Amino acid sequence: MTDQHDVFQPDQSIIDNAWVSDWKTLEEKAKADPVAYWEEQARNLEWSKPWDKVLDDSGKPFFKWFTGARTNIVTNAVDRHLNTARRNKLALIWVGENTDEVRTFSYFALNREVEQMANVLKAMGVRKGDVVTIYLPRIPEIFFAMLACAKIGAVHSVVFAGYSSEALNQRIDGSESKVVITADGSWINGKVFPMKQIVDDAVKFSPTVENVIVVRNTKSDVAMDSTRDHWYHELCKLPIAKGKCQTVQVDAEDPLFILYTSGSTGKPKAIVHTHGGYQVGTYTTLRNCFDIKEEDRWWCTADPGWITGHSYLVYGPLLNGATVFMHEGGPTYPYPDGWWQLIEHYGITSFYTAPTAIRTLMRFGEAWVRKHDLSSLRILGSVGEPINPEAWRWFHDVVGNGKCPITDTWWQTETGMFQITTVPAMPLKPGAAGRPVFGQEAAVMDEEGNELPPGQEGFLVLKNPWPSMMRTLYKDPDRYLDTYWKKYPGLYLTGDSARIDEDGYIWIIGRTDDVIKVSGHRIGTAEVESALVSHPAVAEAAAIGLPHEVKGNSIHCTVILAQGYEPSKQLTADLRAHVAEVLSPIAKPDSFDFVEKLPKTRSGKIMRRVLKARALGQDEGDLSTLDD
Ligand code: WT7
Repeated sequence: MTDQHDVFQPDQSIIDNAWVSDWKTLEEKAKADPVAYWEEQARNLEWSKPWDKVLDDSGKPFFKWFTGARTNIVTNAVDRHLNTARRNKLALIWVGENTDEVRTFSYFALNREVEQMANVLKAMGVRKGDVVTIYLPRIPEIFFAMLACAKIGAVHSVVFAGYSSEALNQRIDGSESKVVITADGSWINGKVFPMKQIVDDAVKFSPTVENVIVVRNTKSDVAMDSTRDHWYHELCKLPIAKGKCQTVQVDAEDPLFILYTSGSTGKPKAIVHTHGGYQVGTYTTLRNCFDIKEEDRWWCTADPGWITGHSYLVYGPLLNGATVFMHEGGPTYPYPDGWWQLIEHYGITSFYTAPTAIRTLMRFGEAWVRKHDLSSLRILGSVGEPINPEAWRWFHDVVGNGKCPITDTWWQTETGMFQITTVPAMPLKPGAAGRPVFGQEAAVMDEEGNELPPGQEGFLVLKNPWPSMMRTLYKDPDRYLDTYWKKYPGLYLTGDSARIDEDGYIWIIGRTDDVIKVSGHRIGTAEVESALVSHPAVAEAAAIGLPHEVKGNSIHCTVILAQGYEPSKQLTADLRAHVAEVLSPIAKPDSFDFVEKLPKTRSGKIMRRVLKARALGQDEGDLSTLDD
């Protein structure tokens, strides 16, 4: 628990200049009437037909927002800026892993690129409601591809460019995509990650894929199937790519994208978000919590392949007419001051990253930061996992030079927008995620469904619906009901444990389900386990998360080997490589235990708690339910 010394009061100048200065009044007002609050926010955006109803909860928990309205997120993220002085403003500054490579796009130029990509998709027969899989690295074309889909009413499904062929195949098949947009390769620490080759393997068994669009990025040699694969730059030369493309007006509740995320089973969940509510939620929260202003340069280091990239790299900033900065590279290549160099060189004002990146950079020491003039920074942000107070202070004192508020943001792929966070005018507590966003209320529950008093740890729930909430799981409404709404009827189950302090600040503790957050990435234990058992040496496997100083959690696997296999260093290395290959390098286990038997309950459930205690050398606790 923190004491009062750990509260940072914002400077008066920050309060005076913020969009939201009197946060207490707004918090009260929104609490009294959340629907009216959201309606007021929605009026900041354009709708070609107004809504009949702000919130339709008649089919709850299948909530609907802004029913009857027509709009398109691209109308608000791109088109409307073209009629203002913002048409000449930079929408996107992109810097490659090789920082000599720079591409910039005004809003006017961004629109031209989006129209071009949209024309190509249309020519390939992509229609409203069709799902397009996007498997691209952090290059400008991922913006064009996402916006192009939205513009014509198609649904994008972005798959993180670090997933391997089986994971990609599963996501393409699940969404029945006819078109996949990819690149020849991507740069990771000076080496090429062979994206096109992974797509080739992934679509080999996909009956639905008719066309693959390939963006030239690394200029690597790739195999092109003459009937299926098309270079994007070649397509752009064709007449089909040229000319204007209208932004289709869709129903507010029409799907904008699906995004796969990990859950408690091996089958990833496809989260569905829609045009109308999602644009209101992401626009409003980014503006309030990061105080986005016309002159800002906003850098979110997340990959577009995750929800953070969707909401706060692509859509939220563009909805606000901001200048977005995107960098292809990671935090330490070629040197651990690459990011600080970029902040200085491009005058970044607002910098949003993950605790794991902060902890990684912290280890290299202050000198790397102090080499650079970071005085352009005005506000800092954190996302993906709890930020430990030590990392918070380093971020605040060293990177922000003690003058930038840190907006920690707790939310999920499912929530689409921030849920627990702060606005710059609020006092900050290092390590606490903050308060529910305006219009939201949260609680901590015990197993029996009682709301717990301040200070006690329990299951975190959200009480109110919000506009950018997921609408369902794609083709799986039952799983939507079971996972999020069954445990406490009427309350949204987050899957996290937390406690709320006396001041109403929420301290997130971690996941309560079979999801591990590794470097902020969400990985299902079942996915790792099924990757492991697909290796001939593995008979049975159980994955758990163990605390890790930099990554937050690491993956520890307990394995029963198949007959004829013996534990060895080589085998351990093979198993790690196997998980990287079938699932993703981000899911590589850190450590292994080879055993004869897994601790199970009499009903056959693996007792992960016991595995964890064993791995940490702790007391195994109550073993009375163990099967022998
Ligand atoms: C889970 C959601 C949407 C953000 C990117 C991750 C954890 C996320 C925080 C935070 C503590 C956090 C939670 C949550 N989480 N942000 N600021 N403090 N924990 O989205 O992959 O859907 O993961 O990430 O455990 O449930 P995601």
